[in-house]
Amino acid sequence: MRKNNRPIGVFDSGLGGLTVLRQLRRILPRERFIYFGDTARVPYGSKSPETVRRYSAEIVRFLVKKNVKMVVVACNTSSALALKDLKKKFPIPICGVVEPGAALALRKSISGRIGIIGTEATIKSQIYPITLKALAGDRPIEVFGLATPLLVPLVEEGITAGPIANLIIKNYLGHLWRMEIDVLILGCTHYPLLKNTIRKILDKNIVLVDSALAVAEKVKDILAKNNLAIEHGRKLSPEFYVTDSSEKFRQLGQRFLREKISDVHLIKFL
Ligand code: DGL
Repeated sequence: MRKNNRPIGVFDSGLGGLTVLRQLRRILPRERFIYFGDTARVPYGSKSPETVRRYSAEIVRFLVKKNVKMVVVACNTSSALALKDLKKKFPIPICGVVEPGAALALRKSISGRIGIIGTEATIKSQIYPITLKALAGDRPIEVFGLATPLLVPLVEEGITAGPIANLIIKNYLGHLWRMEIDVLILGCTHYPLLKNTIRKILDKNIVLVDSALAVAEKVKDILAKNNLAIEHGRKLSPEFYVTDSSEKFRQLGQRFLREKISDVHLIKFL
């Protein structure tokens, strides 16, 4: 197969990365995609850095065997803890979600007071404050991180609106609101599904940053710079690989991707 016609590998700890895949398919409609969801080992957000690095490397090895031309780490936790290691280990372009999201947040923020919500592991890693400060250079900014671990199971249960979601989000976000942020980064791939509820609760002037679109634009750039963009092609359904119950993935995944999911393969060993 010609170098440019090879697929792009996208992976996440489970379903969340499908919000990134959705934007990738919008921006790059002719590209082929292979999506890997590690549904048997989700969540990554409460695991140690070593474990997240090991799981991530196993998945990228699998995708490389599938002959992908580049990899998108569509998981904030894995981007936070494993991206550096993956880039060292594998000689293909690898794009995470943190830098594109941080760059977009800086462009949107006027006051320089930026909030970030994510999993325990992402927040603990300090990757967002580090990346934001590096990108901001001399511009003074303040970053306020908050782990919001209940939001992933909430989304996985399909509770993205209504009194329970409102209560939990209000409880979490009250603290950040008091910090007078003008931008809130949704630093977890599940959170875009809660965007409408978060929007209703937060001050209307706070901009919500969902990095998926920024990631898709960055991937487009990487393909162009590396001469890897597909030349001819038509929109094909992605191929899906999961490590647990493909039926549950198919049903829930359709909500994340907002299109029909077929062709799901169950992988028992990595
Ligand atoms: N995909 C993960 C992330 O974006 C959330 C789910 C998990 O904890 O594995 O951080």
